[in-house]
Formats: sequence, C-alpha cells, structure tokens
Amino acid sequence: MISPLSRRKFVAATATVAASSLVPRHLLASPASGTQRVTIRADAEIGVVRPELHGHFIEHLGSCVYGGLWVGKDSRIPNLNGYRKQAVAYLQELGVPVLRWPGGCFADDYHWRDGIGPAAKRPRRVNLHWGEYVEDNSFGTHEFIGLCRLLNAEPYFAGNVGSSTPHELRDWIEYCNYPSGSTLSDERAANGSPEPFRVRYWGVGNESWGCGGNMRPEEYARLYRDFAVYCRNFGGTDLFLVASGPSGNDSRWSRGLMDGLGWERPQGVSMHYYSGGTDRSTAFTADHMQTQFASYAKVEDAIIHQRAVLDSYDKGKDIGLILDEWGVWDNIPEEDERRYGKLWQQSTMRSAVAAGLGLNIFNRQADKLRMCNIAQMVNVLQSLLLTDGPEGEHCIRTTTYHTFSLFKPHRTKTAVCVESDDPSAFSVSASKNDKELVVTLVNSHHDIDLQVECTLQGASASGGTAQILHDAEWNACNSFEQPDRVVPKLLTPRVDGAKIQLDLPRLSVATAVMPIHRSGSVTGFGGAVR
Ligand code: AHR
Repeated sequence: MISPLSRRKFVAATATVAASSLVPRHLLASPASGTQRVTIRADAEIGVVRPELHGHFIEHLGSCVYGGLWVGKDSRIPNLNGYRKQAVAYLQELGVPVLRWPGGCFADDYHWRDGIGPAAKRPRRVNLHWGEYVEDNSFGTHEFIGLCRLLNAEPYFAGNVGSSTPHELRDWIEYCNYPSGSTLSDERAANGSPEPFRVRYWGVGNESWGCGGNMRPEEYARLYRDFAVYCRNFGGTDLFLVASGPSGNDSRWSRGLMDGLGWERPQGVSMHYYSGGTDRSTAFTADHMQTQFASYAKVEDAIIHQRAVLDSYDKGKDIGLILDEWGVWDNIPEEDERRYGKLWQQSTMRSAVAAGLGLNIFNRQADKLRMCNIAQMVNVLQSLLLTDGPEGEHCIRTTTYHTFSLFKPHRTKTAVCVESDDPSAFSVSASKNDKELVVTLVNSHHDIDLQVECTLQGASASGGTAQILHDAEWNACNSFEQPDRVVPKLLTPRVDGAKIQLDLPRLSVATAVMPIHRSGSVTGFGGAVR
C-alpha cells in the first residue's frame, strides 16, 4: 500500500515553491528554496531500461561525420585508422548501445555503392539537404561498421526509400549480411570484410512525410510494403525493420500508416520529436528556457499516445516504438554554422537539464519504448561531443554527454514507479535490480533550490553514492577554452532505510546509486506516474 502524502504536506510544499516563483530573483533576500517529496515504489515495476533507450544518431551533416568522427587516416588530428581518437575514447567511456546512420534527410539521397571500394575511386557527391557541400564518400558502409565495432555499438542503417528502389535496399542488406558465395558478399570480402556484418536494424526511409519523399501516409505504406518484401533475413540475421512514423504526436500519420500496411507489420515504428528553442543556445532567456522544458511533457504524452495507437491495431503490440530523433533544436546563428559546420550547436546547463528530462521520461515509459536516439552524436544539434570545426584538433564533452553518463547506471535495470508531489519543474525516475536502486532527479527550476525527501516503498536502502551536474547559470557550457566548466561532482545522499534525502540546487541533474534490500511483494505496475 502506498502511504499517500497528506494533503496538508502537499499544499505546504507546493505553497513554498509557488510563492517563491512569483518573486523576482533579485528581490529575494536569500535564495528561494522548497521541499519536494517523492515516493519511490520499488514494489511497482514498469519495465527494463533497455540500453537502446540511450541510443545515438549520426548523419552526413555539417561536421558530424566528416571532420567530427571521421578525420581520415592521413589527418594531423590524432586518429585510429581515420576515426578521431579523442572522440572514440570519450564515446567508449560512455558506452554507445546503438548507432543510427547515415541520416536523417541525407539517408533518402544516399546510394550505398558510392561508399564502398577503394576510397580514391569513390564518387564525389553533392549533399543536397545540408548546404550542397561536396563529400568524397570516404566514410561508407565499412567505415561505419568499423566505428560501431570500435564503440561496441549495434549498427542501425537508415535505408533510402525517397529516391531509391526496393532492389537497392535489398542489395545493401545482402552485401552486409550474406556470409559468402554470392557476388555481393564476395565483393564485401574483397573490400576487406570476409565476415558478414550481421546488421539487424534497418530503417525503411526517414521522415517520409517530409524530406524523405513528401508522401501521404497511404503512399508511404504502399512503398513500405514493396520494400519489406525484399528485405530478407540473409544469412540468418533476423532483421528489425523500422517504418517511418510520425512527426511528433501526429496520429493522422500513424493511423494512415497502420491502415495502409494491411497485414504487414514492421518490427518498429519511428517517431521524431525535437524540442525547439527560440534563442541561440548560449543566450537563452529564463522564459524561453522554461518554454523549452515544458515541451517535454508533450514528448511524454506523445510516447503514451503513439504507443496506444500502435496497440489499438491487431499485432500492433508487437511493434516497437522508437524515438529515432530527439533533443533540443535551438536557434543556430549562421556565423556558428560557417565556422563549425551546419547545425553546430552548443550544449549548456539548460541542454543538460533538457536531456535529463528526456531520459527520465524514457525510464518512466520504459515499457512503451524500444529505442531512443539523441540527435546527434557530434557537432550537430544536441551533441555529446563538440570539435572546433572539421579542421580543429579540440574535442570536448558537452553538458549533454555528462547527463548521459549520469543515466548510465539505469541501463538494464528495471524501472519502477515514482510519485512526486509537484512534477511541474521537477522530474524523477528510478530503476533497480537485486542489488542497487538508482534514482535520477532533475531540478528544472532556474530560481528554486530543492530539498528532496524520498520515501522508498517495497525496499530499504543504505549508504550509496551520488553525482550531480549543476550550474546556476543556465547558459554555462563547456568550451574549447574551458572544457570542464560543467562536470559531474560528488554528492552525498542521506540514506536511512526507507528515507533518502538529497539537496538539489536549481538547474541540476543528480543520480544516486544505493545498495537495496528487498521487502514486501513486487508487482508489475504496467504504467508510470509522472
Ligand atoms: O537531425 C537533423 C534532421 O532533422 C534530420 O536529418 C531529419 O531527419 C530531421 O528533420
């Protein structure tokens, strides 16, 4: 049984918060503070936090691939066979469960044969979606698989539907997955990879409602069926095909897609949800920041709603919901793009909090999601790493990288329900296994420090460690001059049986990992409470 928070306590807690948020910060004699009460229900399981919920995405866009991850073997920038050494080291440390490539919009204009064979003979193509720069295709299928192997990441290819044929996609799959003896598999071997790549994840188009073909859902569904017939489990690799799903919470697309598919069922349906920002990333106003944070409630609603749409179809429950692209998309000044590459965007303390809001949602909705890929890994949008342009030697970890690292202890654990008294500018999620409880808390207030009091139900905890990422200045970031301005610091949680207390200053993300001991019975809750 949950012991509900008494109404009196709830009102008292929220009154402190509400009253202080009305007073302008400069008029406050002392920093505003409030108490946040949370019940962690170790006895109410949601589902496993799949490592793929912390997935990534790279596109041939700006300096993400060329100049970012791939500098080439002859570069003066330290590299491992062409891969930027420092980037690989940071990503290995973080762990990359899955990596999607080559787009994005780029995927529907990509022809895989351009990127195989001797690099010197590969064609030079115009990247029509992202500024018409010419790329030399030196990063292709083998180079992508090489990167995935270095990072121990599951490769996820996005196939071209918008400007290609079922035949081209079918051949790419055979080239990658058929063991040997066919012309295509022998060509792969001749290109240096006798072992099949065994790629499971294949996207069938990207944003087919937009840059991937401007289609109506029924047109795309028809094409999906044509493509899917020829996407085979070559060499015994079970394919996981991902159909192009909605933009945000667009159910008209999802229903049109599902109706048009008839009996055909993809293994996954992707949705894209960006949280737009009106300001340049390092010059946000408090209001615009809070507007951006507020969009995360809509992301959570979209996940719940889109899951329900899929579930309402016969065998729809078997389809994995994939948040293929997510993150903050701020107002990007042209001068930054000219200097560093298209869609190059700084990550600030605000971005770190936004990442925390997103990753907390994925824990709370772990039973509804199969994979989530942040856009994008390096130098584009809400990236984890930044380099100072394609020629630059510096490679730094962004605030978003550090938020991802704070969520790492959740991977493979089972998310459990959490109830909080005022979820408006505070977000929490928890997961556990037999030994540990992991709790991540996000204070998205920019003017209120919180003391968080957690009551643990169905288990007891002791000891433990915590780390916190915090900067009261929301535009604070890690720069090439100050690469470690915002990094996680140690925090001591006060843990005593069923009580856990933490100080959570304004604009912070904190994760506590504590040994737990079970008590009482455990039930599958099948839902989450925000
Ligand atoms: O991530 C940048 C772009 O955003 C991708 O290419 C596209 O899929 C989306 O619109």
